[in-house]
Amino acid sequence: MKKHSLALIAGDGIGTEVVPAAQTILDAVAPRFAFNFEAHAYDWGSEYYLRNGRMMPENAIDQLRRHDAILLGAIGHPQIPDYVTLHGLLLPIRRAFDQFANIRPAIMYEGVESPLKKLRAGDVDMVVVRENTEGEYAPIGGFVHSGHAQEVAVQTAVFTKHGIQRVVRFAFELARKRAGKRRVTSVTKSNAQSYSMVLWDRVFKDVAAGFPDIATESLLVDAAAMNFVRRPETFDVVVASNLFGDILSDVSAIVTGSIGLAASANLDPTHRFPSMFEPVHGSAPDIAGRGIANPLAMILSTAMMLDHLGFGKAARAVDSAVRSVLKEGNVRTPDLGGASSTSEVAAAVVEHLS
Ligand code: NAD
Ligand code: IPM
Ligand code: MN
Repeated sequence: MKKHSLALIAGDGIGTEVVPAAQTILDAVAPRFAFNFEAHAYDWGSEYYLRNGRMMPENAIDQLRRHDAILLGAIGHPQIPDYVTLHGLLLPIRRAFDQFANIRPAIMYEGVESPLKKLRAGDVDMVVVRENTEGEYAPIGGFVHSGHAQEVAVQTAVFTKHGIQRVVRFAFELARKRAGKRRVTSVTKSNAQSYSMVLWDRVFKDVAAGFPDIATESLLVDAAAMNFVRRPETFDVVVASNLFGDILSDVSAIVTGSIGLAASANLDPTHRFPSMFEPVHGSAPDIAGRGIANPLAMILSTAMMLDHLGFGKAARAVDSAVRSVLKEGNVRTPDLGGASSTSEVAAAVVEHLS
């Protein structure tokens, strides 16, 4: 039986609290579903930076390459600028391993209340497919006249036909696989950004022609933000650029109850490189260290990892254990109105594994 090698990067803040919760779940899942794994924990992140002057070692990518998948908690430290920490760890990993599709489901679970009171369990079951290697996050730019009054910053977005095609195609294939509404919504801003987003719209149309069985919709990002709140139940698969997908997936997370439930997968669907699984949320310095972070986003991300590694049954078991815990409603963290701790929630998920 193949032994799966997992890299665990807990990172910063609540990352160090939710990753152990994911480990608890993996330890419980492994014997039940013959998921043979070995986990290698890396102490990379902001504390490592304060000791070593970098977020991860120079050969970090080569160290990670030998793993089958990466589980990441969160990165971000109140005393270190985000452009240092995120460009020193998270973003280079996504690019190095060509994790071009960032998959962010948002589901209205039974037992969870939406801030939009009219929403009921099952009403929302959507997924944001976010381009994850280029777009507005391309590390192209610089400063001129640094320190002077006339200082100028240039930040260039990079959109390639290849990059758009592959993520849009992924979105259509996902819409076919899901037992959903068989609908793909593309989000751009082609009224204002008349090159990059016009190319995106054109590629979307071309790719859509190959999927006549899937309904399509194109929205401008401002209207999309509104419609995520106004009619979230109408969405199935939403495909968007790196920045738009980032922003919209925080909206879909809160509409369905809490960012503490929002899972994500940074996929290299070709399996050439390890994919990375992490919650949508960050290091949450406002609640870090108190043991009250909701671990379910991390646990559901772990289920996405199990699915990606070919352990669909184990993934579904974790997913339904989470649903049972939510439905019963006895054990939940404060973001969902409860008083339980991170580890109590993880233990409840383990108890509900069948
Ligand atoms: P955040 O997601 O960390 O927190 C936003 C709000 O949601 C906070 O009030 C927080 O308490 C709450 N929250 C987040 N996760 C929660 C959980 N699991 N359970 C309960 N409540 C939770 O976003 P932020 O405050 O904008 O960013 C904090 C730091 O994290 C910054 O340094 C930012 O750059 C970084 N960040 C990192 C990632 C990542 O590593 N993938 C993602 C987003 C933000
Ligand atoms: C996310 C985060 C990151 C992103 C930040 C921390 C760079 O917000 O994964 O959603 O924008 O990709
Ligand atoms: Mn984000």
